[in-house]
Amino acid sequence: MDRLGTETAFAVSADAAAWAAQGHRVYPFHLGDINLRTPVNVIEAAERAMRDGKTGYTPAPGIPELREALAQEIGAARGVSYGAEHVSVQPGAKPVIGKLLMSVMNPGDEVVYPSPGYPIYESQVDYLGGRGRPYAYVEEADGFRIDRDSVEAALGDTARVLIVNGQHNPTGADATAEEIAWLARIARERDLWVLADEPYFDIRYGGGSRSLASEPELAERTVIGYTFSKKYAMTGWRLGAAIGPPRVIDLINKLNTNHESCTCGFIQHAGVEALRGDQSGAREILATLRERRDVVVDGLNAIDGVSVHRATATFYLFVDVTGVYRRLGYDDPHAFRTDALRETGVSFCSRTHFGRPLPGERRTYVRFAYSGIDAADAEEGLAALKAYWERQVTGLRRTTG
Ligand SMILES: Cc1ncc(COP(=O)(O)O)c(C=O)c1O
Repeated sequence: MDRLGTETAFAVSADAAAWAAQGHRVYPFHLGDINLRTPVNVIEAAERAMRDGKTGYTPAPGIPELREALAQEIGAARGVSYGAEHVSVQPGAKPVIGKLLMSVMNPGDEVVYPSPGYPIYESQVDYLGGRGRPYAYVEEADGFRIDRDSVEAALGDTARVLIVNGQHNPTGADATAEEIAWLARIARERDLWVLADEPYFDIRYGGGSRSLASEPELAERTVIGYTFSKKYAMTGWRLGAAIGPPRVIDLINKLNTNHESCTCGFIQHAGVEALRGDQSGAREILATLRERRDVVVDGLNAIDGVSVHRATATFYLFVDVTGVYRRLGYDDPHAFRTDALRETGVSFCSRTHFGRPLPGERRTYVRFAYSGIDAADAEEGLAALKAYWERQVTGLRRTTG
């Protein structure tokens, strides 16, 4: 159990909640939760299913209607031909991470995963006795890119699994077709299993996402982590799926039987409506997120010593705060974050919440999520943050100058 990590971002939520409980205003930029309503047609489908008595166990792999719908819709969006046998319904995308590793990784095998990245990769690899081999992201003129040198350096002789989060939490990086083709070539050459963790595949503000599963010969070695959480604002419903070759999906189904028996049945019926029914709710969610992104990017870039790219995907921004951090003489990201919370109510995550930092990281980044805060509140919070940090820097200049 000592090897098991956690999502330390939840500790940031606890700090924010404690501060709010003392009567302070909090501007929540820390969590990837969504303060928007699930589309009403999806809610009604769940109600209908409950009233119709669909309240019992379901088959461990999921109800046939949802498996079919996922096979068709997720396959069509990626140009891959899937059937129900390729789908294992899950309570979210998160369980796919550990279940895939349990299915294909032996203790001592290497797993190549992004850091910064979703912290559960590192946690599950460590816990299950794998050897974690993190790769980095680098900031370029137009945003973050996978650091290819670090991927190559991470690939040891016993590499078994490659984890790719195309629309990337926390950097907002949006994998290019070229990057995906390059990673696919590595997976083929090195005979790797791939986890294509794709919670944000549809959270994008133009262009199209590309999946590793779409690359030649990759569908047979790739498991997609799919979720309804983000696109349909269904984080708390807990509905997602593992989609991949039946030889591994069958193993994941066996784990379902052992772990939770099945994903909640009436919610699976709502999932069919989400995929096949009216999509206007999902479109509205995306439009709202886009509007917020622009407000938050502009608000952050208006602060002296802060810079951020207008990320084209996800609802996260990985913000370079090195200027402020250094000028104010910080050497502890925790203190930097908690001071901002106490002085302004603005709550955000640090780089340290996204896996162990890698040697050679020189700049200081924090993550702002805009899925849980309205545009007007975001604007107000960022104005307070600007005033606070700039006042601090000016005060310091006065005392030192
Ligand atoms: C990269 C990544 N993978 C997986 C998940 C888990 O998704 P879910 O809440 O559907 O389990 C998240 C959620 O934030 C995520 O950011």
